[in-house]
Amino acid sequence: MSFPEHRPRRLRRTPAVRRLARETHLVPSQLVLPMFVREGITEPSPIGSMPGIVQHSMDSLRRAVAEAAEQRIGGVMLFGVPEVRDAVGSGADDPNGILNRATEAVVAEVGDAVVVQTDLCLDEFTDHGHCGVLRADGAVDNDATLERYTAMGLAQARAGSAMLGLSGMMDGQVGAVREALDAEGFTDTLVLAYSAKYAGAFYGPFREAVDSQLKGDRRSYQLDPGNGREGVREALLDVEEGADIVMVKPALPYLDVLADVKASVDVPVWAYQVSGEYAMVEAAAAHGWIDRRGAIMESLLGIRRAGADAILTYWALEAARWLREEL
Ligand code: PBG
Repeated sequence: MSFPEHRPRRLRRTPAVRRLARETHLVPSQLVLPMFVREGITEPSPIGSMPGIVQHSMDSLRRAVAEAAEQRIGGVMLFGVPEVRDAVGSGADDPNGILNRATEAVVAEVGDAVVVQTDLCLDEFTDHGHCGVLRADGAVDNDATLERYTAMGLAQARAGSAMLGLSGMMDGQVGAVREALDAEGFTDTLVLAYSAKYAGAFYGPFREAVDSQLKGDRRSYQLDPGNGREGVREALLDVEEGADIVMVKPALPYLDVLADVKASVDVPVWAYQVSGEYAMVEAAAAHGWIDRRGAIMESLLGIRRAGADAILTYWALEAARWLREEL
């Protein structure tokens, strides 16, 4: 009998060798925690489809962001849930709107200790739930929406947001917001472009989290799940328009897109592990069907391996604690 010429298993023999041979690492500063703040509540309110995640009150949000800063995760991404909505999403650029007030409060609490980021999209603020304003025929009006986004972006920058997360998938949104920021002197405000954001089923629990009013779907602006090259094209356009960071979303079903985008751009590439990805693991773990911690850490590492420089994940704080334990 002949012996194997190659023995890759040598690199797997002991925990110490495996640790030394590991190609991909995850550290707390690569994790960003998405957070919800709801207008008009005084106690945090649980989200049924996202066990462990809440809609925060202003107070509980402030405390939670302070904890995120203590844990030294990379950042927090804030989403607002307003009490009142209208056709154009007026609450979005109102300095007294819930998201802008919350941003101000949080920045006053933590300053630059953690990167405070804000979702820049109209869907939480419109009474029809779409990410833009609508034409008379009911279709989303791309260019009229850009004017709303620039107003929203300026309001967020004035409130102290360090990074604007443009998640609306309107054409030209990055260029329009960048230009408006620069014209008002906000040249330091970062733009995170949700470049390759796919339409699909994985945002379901998020819609509960923000009390979404959406009927129908977002297929006329978010990408078709079958299209990988189009995701790369969107990322390239966003870089050209001035995006500081581009993102792929959801994460696990789109790792190929993530890898392709990573190979195509020279800015950081992030991924968003979305609500549906969170809910799947939590539900399976609650049944005892999957090892919760193992599945969470494996999914985060896989997203890193595919090319994400940082990851938006609802497990950011817990994962950061585990990562420190493992050191
Ligand atoms: C739009 C936005 C959405 C998410 C983040 N930003 C919802 C959507 O596109 O329908 C989803 C995040 C998640 O599912 O965790 N403001």
